This record gives sequence, structure tokens and C-alpha cells, in this order.
Amino acid sequence: MTGPGAPAALSDSFGRVARTLRVSLTDRCTLRCRYCLPAEGVAWLPTDEVLTDDEVVRLVRIAVERLGVRRVRLTGGEPLLRRGLEEIVGRIAGMRTAEGARPRVALTTNGVSLARKADALVDAGLDRVNVSLDTLDRERYAALTRRDRLPDVLAGLAAARRAGLTPIKVNTVLMRGINDDEAVPLLRWAVAEGYRLRFIEQMPLGPADEWDRAQLVTAQEILDRLAAEVELVPVPASQRGSAPAEMWRVAGTDAEVGVIASVSRPFCGACDRVRLTAEGHVRHCLFAATETDLRTPMRAGADDDELVRLWVAAVAGKPASGIGDGLHVPPDRLMSAIGG
Ligand code: 5AD
Ligand code: SF4
Repeated sequence: MTGPGAPAALSDSFGRVARTLRVSLTDRCTLRCRYCLPAEGVAWLPTDEVLTDDEVVRLVRIAVERLGVRRVRLTGGEPLLRRGLEEIVGRIAGMRTAEGARPRVALTTNGVSLARKADALVDAGLDRVNVSLDTLDRERYAALTRRDRLPDVLAGLAAARRAGLTPIKVNTVLMRGINDDEAVPLLRWAVAEGYRLRFIEQMPLGPADEWDRAQLVTAQEILDRLAAEVELVPVPASQRGSAPAEMWRVAGTDAEVGVIASVSRPFCGACDRVRLTAEGHVRHCLFAATETDLRTPMRAGADDDELVRLWVAAVAGKPASGIGDGLHVPPDRLMSAIGG
């Protein structure tokens, strides 16, 4: 039942329930990572098609108060580009689930302008941050992201740690011939700095000519490279929950490293996510072929009950799997527009 006030759940026909909402706050970015964006010529969303702060907050409130969402992750594009980000974080942190709990609020960022904003974000109620970093070499970083910003990212990470946003996760995509020799150096660095490193297999979500299954640096290859030089102890799957990473502890330390086999061993069966794009469309999967537009009905005056109904229906039709070997129709939009 989804009557007024009655909590509904975002469940699908495979028994999964979405508890984590990823919200893209902008499709724009400070960087142009090769696996994500072309060097130039991106057709950014017109400003009036991007949700306003009040619209974002309204939809997140519906998800948290009416639809059982417990965790909200703000993404992009680059969410730190969004003016008013602190206010959005603060308004979400002030919400309560139907059970009276405060939603967890996290941010996925490239870290470039995190140093300036970490303290204000923590004050606003931000709980956690994931920072994307693929190499520790400045020239490589500039080649991979097409911007010379590595020192800013390292400063952003340090600021996030000082601000108490721990444990900080660092997401790394390895590309063959570009940074695939850095698995071990990145892990040693992360252990020394106290960051939780997670390798993510490159997904076919960016420019088509930047992805080739045959060239993929797979989770297994990454693990083999790590295990050749570092003793790893598996963390039992029972401690993973719906997190997509397979986790290892670095022996002799309390550091953990994760490997997300998004392509070679997709984790769709445990997926608990639903996405809201920057222009207010619900996506039940990164690879979904369809989206459900909430912005148009919202701007036409739909009430909360109607938006609840549309959202429930959008997730109910989620397929068993969106990606996998042999089965991946790349979405017709870049990941920066979908929300990573
Ligand atoms: N494959 C895997 N990860 C990607 N990201 C962006 N594009 C891709 C891709 N094609 C990562 C970013 C960031 C997170 C939001 O998603 O590096 O860590
Ligand atoms: Fe920007 Fe993230 Fe895409 Fe890199 S991967 S260009 S940081 S949105």
C-alpha cells in the first residue's frame, strides 16, 4: 500500500530493496577522466533542466521519509561544483526515516576542491567521503584526467582526514598501459595514509573508444598483482553487506583494500541502490535502458503521493542484472550525467 503517509519500499521483482540513493547534483566536472568524459565537446545539461536545491531536497525527503532510503550519496559529475552543496547536505542530514533515524550522507568526489570545503561539509552533517584517485604520479594524473590537479586532490584528502571524515575511501580505476602498474604502490600509499583503497573495474560508461573488454584490467589481475607483494587476508562476505567490494585485510595492519569486479563479476544480486540524475530522472541501474522522469510531473504540480507512486513503479521494473560478460548495452549517456 502506498497511501498517504504509509511508508512504501523501493522493492523489485527479485526481492531487492533499494536503501541507498545516489543523487547526481550536476553533470559537470572539473576533470575529464578518460574513462568518463571526452576531452571536449560534451553537451552539458542546460541549467533549467537541472533540479534546483529545493527540488533535490524534496525528492530526497520523499525517498527518506516515504520510501525507506537510509543512505544518501551525493555524486556528479563533480558534486563540489554545486553551489549550495553544504546547505543541501545540511537539509538532508536534518531528515528522519520512518523509523526516526538520521540518514547517512556521503559524497563521491574527485577531491580537487575538497580542501576548501571539507570543514564546512562536516559542520553541515556530511558523514563520509569517497575520493577518486587513479595515480600518484603528477604527469600521469594530468594525462589521465586532462587536468594538472594531483596536488589539490592530495590536499583535499588530507583535509578530509583532518575534518574527521574517516574512514576515507579512495576509488581507483586501472587502465592498461596507463596506470596498471600502480596497484601495489597505490596500496602501500593508502595503508601509510590510512585511506581505504578500492579498485573498480573500468565500466563501459565513458567514451566508447576508451573501453575494450579484451584490455580490461580485471579484479583477478589486480588481486594477483597485489598478492604477489602484499599478504592479504579475505574479509568474509558476511561482513560486506550490500557493498559491492570484495574486501581484503592487509596482514599485519588494520588496513583494508577492496576490489569491485563491476564487469567480470557483477554484484547485481546484492544491489541496494537507486539513482536520481541531475535532471531529476530515477534510474534503477547505472546501465538502465530507461529512466523515469520525476522533474516534469513535479514541475507540473504533482503531489508527494504521485511522486511516490512513480518512484515505486520505476524501481519495481528493475531487471535482475544490467551488466555482465556478454550482456552490456552501454547506456546512451555518459556516467557524469547518470551519477557515478
Ligand atoms: N568505470 C569505472 N569507474 C568509473 N568511474 C567513472 N567512470 C568510470 C568507469 N567508466 C568512477 C570514478 C569515481 C566513481 C564515481 O566512478 O573514478 O571513483
Ligand atoms: Fe569527473 Fe569523476 Fe568523470 Fe573524472 S570520473 S571526469 S572526476 S565525473
